[in-house]
Amino acid sequence: MRLTMVGTGYVGLVTGTLFANTGNSVTCLDLDEAKIATLRRGQCPIYEPGLGELIRKNVESGRLFFTTDRDEAYRDAEVIFICVGTPTAPDGDTDLRFVQAAADDIADVLRNLGPAQVPKTIVVKSTVPVGTTFMVRDRIRARVGANIPFRVANNPEFLKEGDAVSDFNRPDRVIVGVEDGQSGEVFRDLYDPFVRNGNPIFVMDILSSEMVKYASNNFLATKISFINEMANLCEALGANINRVREGMCADKRIGHQFLYPGLGYGGSCFPKDTRAIIRMGERTGTPIDLSRAVDATNMGQRTRFFRKIEQHFAPPRGNGLAGRTLAFWGLAFKPRTDDVREAPALTLVQLATDAGARAVGFDPVANDTAKAVMGDRLKVVPDMYEALTGADALVVCTDWDDFKSPDFRRIGQLMRSRVVFDGRNLYRRQHLGDLGFHYYSVGRAPVAPLQA
Ligand SMILES: NC(=O)c1ccc[n+]([C@@H]2O[C@H](COP(=O)([O-])OP(=O)(O)OC[C@H]3O[C@@H](n4cnc5c(N)ncnc54)[C@H](O)[C@@H]3O)[C@@H](O)[C@H]2O)c1
Repeated sequence: MRLTMVGTGYVGLVTGTLFANTGNSVTCLDLDEAKIATLRRGQCPIYEPGLGELIRKNVESGRLFFTTDRDEAYRDAEVIFICVGTPTAPDGDTDLRFVQAAADDIADVLRNLGPAQVPKTIVVKSTVPVGTTFMVRDRIRARVGANIPFRVANNPEFLKEGDAVSDFNRPDRVIVGVEDGQSGEVFRDLYDPFVRNGNPIFVMDILSSEMVKYASNNFLATKISFINEMANLCEALGANINRVREGMCADKRIGHQFLYPGLGYGGSCFPKDTRAIIRMGERTGTPIDLSRAVDATNMGQRTRFFRKIEQHFAPPRGNGLAGRTLAFWGLAFKPRTDDVREAPALTLVQLATDAGARAVGFDPVANDTAKAVMGDRLKVVPDMYEALTGADALVVCTDWDDFKSPDFRRIGQLMRSRVVFDGRNLYRRQHLGDLGFHYYSVGRAPVAPLQA
């Protein structure tokens, strides 16, 4: 099949590359000329394990193309996937500008092709508020008139950054929303190679399909905020969230996934999708208190953790954060991605530097993207131990494997004072205490150095 991906971000690039990998001819369109130039040079503009090699392989096989030319991208496509960003607007609504612009561009090409063309299927893959796919249909129809044939569909994406290639290759399920009377055949053909394991393709109405994505993300976000709330209560009551978590998650009805206490969720999806759910509730007069609480707990988790840092350096022990140096390990919103959108680490850097501290950071792959956002507030260094030289505290923000068993003796020698704030509960409390560290984590009592 001839496919066009509109937007070559995390979703468009992964989807396009993997559809090319199963034999389709895929054109990836982006308005960002620098990104397309990078891709044409055979380089991957984002960090995503395994993606670069697949891009190169499929470009060499003559199945994967990159362009900034809308006419070229849309003219021959049988199926067009809209994969542009849908960020939160300043007023809290979902900003649909990019989706609308893509719809208008598609409409212009359809109009020029005239009524004799084979109908194209225009698929909204971006995460969009319920009703948006119909808005896209109506917008295109208004521009092209009644005689130009096309259909719309919705096909939300569930890949996780850092595991995007394997997630797309082996989805738990594929969700497709189609208009009345339209079959999902085109999607069964496209996705069949990815569900050979028997995982289902659910074909449903468009509004339900759009809602599946929000309901899924909101549920996962709820689990994270739930465990963080329990962690906070454990701290107040002297319990240990790690023990509580083990005991609780052994119950098969509960399970282990998305129940890790920490700094809360970030990234380009959970925060904005939870807020979008809240907006949809407000717009329809539906009580949406749970989602509001999930969002509030999540944002509160960052400031709560920062207060631990502040309190440690407050009198009588110190004179506050002014003049202190904090070393941050992990700058993206999670391991194995360079995406720093809504990353808790950057909130902590912001709060720390507002309080007068100096921030030095290291991330195995997100140094450049973090630096681009934080500018002078953050110095990035190419080595995790280099970040610690002369630091007053280490703040661990993501659970990269590299950070899980570091050389604490070396850390202690490099730092000005032995203080670790662990936002991911990576270390054993007693071990750190024995090595002479002040150690703070989430949902567990802090530990003072053994000799103190
Ligand atoms: N990132 C994820 O993990 C993930 C997972 C599932 C769903 N989603 C959803 O998928 C959508 C895309 O997310 P993303 O992270 O890939 O976004 P992104 O910001 O990484 O990429 C979007 C790309 O679209 C391009 N673009 C914008 N307008 C365009 C236009 N008119 N024509 C061509 N290109 C255009 C931008 O230049 C950018 O490169 C969002 O709705 C998001 O919520 C994201």
